[in-house]
Amino acid sequence: MKIVVLAGGYSPEREVSLCSASLIANALMEKGHRVLLLDVYEGITELPCDPEALFLENGHYEHHISDAAPDLDALRARVNNGDALVGRNVETFCRMADKVFLALHGGMGENGQLQAYLDCCGIHYTGSRYLGCSLAMDKDISKRLFREAGVPTPDWRLFRIGMDRVEELLSEISLPCVIKPVGGGSSVGVSMADTKEELEAAIAEAGKWERELLIERKITGREFTMGILGGETLPPVEIIPREGFYDYKNKYQGTTEEICPAEIPEDITREMSRLTKLGFDALRLSHYARFDFLLDGEGQLWCLEANTLPGMTPTSLLPQEAAAVGIAYPDLCEKILTMGD
Ligand SMILES: Nc1ncnc2c1ncn2[C@@H]1O[C@H](COP(=O)(O)OP(=O)(O)O)[C@@H](O)[C@H]1O
Ligand SMILES: [Mg+2]
Repeated sequence: MKIVVLAGGYSPEREVSLCSASLIANALMEKGHRVLLLDVYEGITELPCDPEALFLENGHYEHHISDAAPDLDALRARVNNGDALVGRNVETFCRMADKVFLALHGGMGENGQLQAYLDCCGIHYTGSRYLGCSLAMDKDISKRLFREAGVPTPDWRLFRIGMDRVEELLSEISLPCVIKPVGGGSSVGVSMADTKEELEAAIAEAGKWERELLIERKITGREFTMGILGGETLPPVEIIPREGFYDYKNKYQGTTEEICPAEIPEDITREMSRLTKLGFDALRLSHYARFDFLLDGEGQLWCLEANTLPGMTPTSLLPQEAAAVGIAYPDLCEKILTMGD
């Protein structure tokens, strides 16, 4: 097949995406596909004489993630696309492909906007459709749907900067709590607060990314994640950061121990699998996704969120889980690519 792997984008998670995308592109070439890796935000400014030649059979892509989240203002100034989120000639190349492999994280690649755009163009793509993506991207809406479906999720309040007051919030939610942008990912802007002062500082920090924040009860315990692929759940991974919580740095700089399959009793794995399937249906997801969980001291599982486009380097969580059941990385990429529309 002729494939465009779409990555990057105007999102704080663009670096992570470019890294996943390079490895996906290499794996798909290994499987015999012709592949073009395209940064959806940067696009291709000038069309070459033979655009077909940009689809590579034996190329090699590479991208390294830096320590800090990327500077989006600098990117915007450099690319000079105005308010457009889809760069020049992206649609042209996507139309040339048999299928678009979405390797984006966060922003319009994961919130359904790009999926809706591709639907309107009649372009086929991997992963969940636009509705599932937008429901999963909004943590407030996801959690409402989880509750409705009987998937336990920690208590929370929505906090709108400029409209809501911290004093009122404190009368409704107890400390310690977790503060996160409602549509964020990769732990960008996520922090914990034990005191009112820390809460105010955390709101200011998260507010750099978004005006709508989720203030959630902090759960103390162990952290897990579970993938779901073609209707079946994969073995859970336990996530143990060496220091602090699973923040941006701990996610991408190798400072976290990941145990796959997690060493937990069979009944907890079974319960996590049941909740993952329930959550997957509640959010109208399709093809594949990854769900984040916390397990408290009483043995209660709490679902934090669903990721519709989870990290896809060979050492990312979902590929590790697939490997644990004998699905090698290139086969996983191929499986996701060829799942029915
Ligand atoms: N309610 C909570 N209690 C304890 N830790 C939390 C809670 N919510 C989030 N965290 C920590 O923050 C990380 C990021 O939160 P998450 O809701 O998964 O957002 P993201 O979309 O950024 O991954 C989690 O992996 C976990 O380590
Ligand atoms: Mg998460």
